[in-house]
Amino acid sequence: MLNRPRRNRSSAAIRTMVEENRLSVKDLLFPLFVMDGSATKTEIKSMPGIYRYTTDLLLKEIEACLNLGITSYALFPQVAEDRKDSLATESHRKGSLYLEAIHAVTSRFPEISMLTDVAMDPYSSDGHDGIVKNGEILNDETLEVLAKMAVAQAQAGSKLIGPSDMMDGRVGYLRESLDDAGFTSVGIMAYSAKYASAFYGPFRDALESAPKFGDKKTYQMNPANSREALREAELDELEGADFLMVKPALAYLDIISLLRDNTNLPIAAYNVSGEYAMVKAAAANGWIDGEKAMLESLLSMKRAGAQVILTYFAKEFAQLKLS
Ligand code: PBG
Repeated sequence: MLNRPRRNRSSAAIRTMVEENRLSVKDLLFPLFVMDGSATKTEIKSMPGIYRYTTDLLLKEIEACLNLGITSYALFPQVAEDRKDSLATESHRKGSLYLEAIHAVTSRFPEISMLTDVAMDPYSSDGHDGIVKNGEILNDETLEVLAKMAVAQAQAGSKLIGPSDMMDGRVGYLRESLDDAGFTSVGIMAYSAKYASAFYGPFRDALESAPKFGDKKTYQMNPANSREALREAELDELEGADFLMVKPALAYLDIISLLRDNTNLPIAAYNVSGEYAMVKAAAANGWIDGEKAMLESLLSMKRAGAQVILTYFAKEFAQLKLS
């Protein structure tokens, strides 16, 4: 037999030599949750090992993660129910929990990269990513709220914003608003191909942000579509996005790969809350090896073409101290 592929698998050393993709903590971006109060952290039930932190403890957590080599983060706020309204005014109120937390983190750790979230749902009394009128989500009116939010976050110190709402035209609108306000160097990581997915459940528990009626199918994408992902990605690129994101990751590896082949922008994959919860739940039952399943799924995202992986596993991965 001339060709025996097993020769290149015959020892750990040779397997390492021919390994095509290797995960590093530098590939990972760690999403974190902030809440009101002080000196408190609460575990999210459906995401074992993941907590909401008050700002003082958030700073401590970032410091610990930095020491493990994690340099990229995302931050999401849990907003008190009585601060929510139909126009998400809390999202751009000076002195709000989120803006203060952004300020605290970016001034304390200027060396890190932190993606700040631009979307109405954490602050919306309707639990939607856009303004709701007569049961419909208004696109262009929502853009104005998103722009106020993005500029307020840039003023608070954000250098990278993440519009996670899926309104049409928002990347261009935000780019222009940031530029007009003098924030030409603030980047945009666009949630380009964000699907209407069942895998966001635990995240909505974390923020208590589930839609109060209906679903998000008039703005988030249909899981049946891939050509539409190309269209969304192309628009975001034309509108000035600096990164394109695919979300969720595991059930959408083909979309990561498709975008990778069709753009020169860096691709980010969001290994979402439900994907994390599945691994944790099965591992807790002794049904799978959680650590191996984590490594295998993160690797699949990298192999598919993701240059950045947003994952709740970031700290756990970093603690393994694989080189
Ligand atoms: C909404 C938003 C969602 C996530 C991040 N931002 C979910 C949703 O559309 O309700 C999900 C992240 C995760 O599941 O880890 N702006």
